Amino acid sequence: MLPFNTVPLSPAVAAGIYGLQLRDPLAPQTAAALRRAFHQHAVLYFREQDLTEADQLRTSRAFGLPVRHPTSTLPPGPIPEITAISNLAEGGRPIGALGHAEVHYHTDLCFLHTPGSFSTLYCLETPLTGGETTWVGLETAYQALDETCKKRIARLKVVYAHSRPEYNPNRPAAHPLLGTHPETGRQTLYFSPNHAQYIVGLDESESRALLDELTAHITQERFTWTLKWQTGDFVVWDNRCTMHRRTAFDPAARRLMKRTQGQGRTSL
Ligand code: SIN
Repeated sequence: MLPFNTVPLSPAVAAGIYGLQLRDPLAPQTAAALRRAFHQHAVLYFREQDLTEADQLRTSRAFGLPVRHPTSTLPPGPIPEITAISNLAEGGRPIGALGHAEVHYHTDLCFLHTPGSFSTLYCLETPLTGGETTWVGLETAYQALDETCKKRIARLKVVYAHSRPEYNPNRPAAHPLLGTHPETGRQTLYFSPNHAQYIVGLDESESRALLDELTAHITQERFTWTLKWQTGDFVVWDNRCTMHRRTAFDPAARRLMKRTQGQGRTSL
């Protein structure tokens, strides 16, 4: 019998995993069962965790190979694969990325030729309001498209870019809108509205209209799950079939998350 329960948290994406303390190393069969749940639900939520950076790194390895974050500009800590998402500063210098502002819908590292596979966040400090994260299940959103739209996007590619030019590769990254997930074999949209520039082969107005149409479709609430974070929450998500956003919060409040990042089409 498995040492945890899996409870779907919305019809389109995310499941809660109850009964596991990730501070304890995962038995191989437990890790395999967690991977199956990850492939089924794309976002896994664990509450009341008490993790060191080493615990977070070890747990991340159940979902793939964590890398040193490719766009992190902060000095690495003792475990270079762990970075911080935070609005806090020490000695006048930020200790983490993204500050307190809203972060629009995106999938991690879509502007690179080798984009993000999985990501994890572990919550150490969180404001009373704001800073909520919402994920969209892009596989369900794809299934809900009408057949005409599915056919239209089947061979289209989107060019992505980061607003900070130093993060972008010399040759812009383009990824297919429709893909087969390399581990589940299921078809899914792959789309990141915040970084999408244009659709290859379409004129500017047609491209903008289709990007806007897709964004309006996939951001419908029926495809989402939102987390109002609490200290001790740990989440792992699959960037190959989800996107996410974060709401703004009071700059005077404290928010500190530790993060790991996998990169590449396959994570295992
Ligand atoms: C992110 O957009 O990758 C960070 C999400 C968050 O801060 O909750």
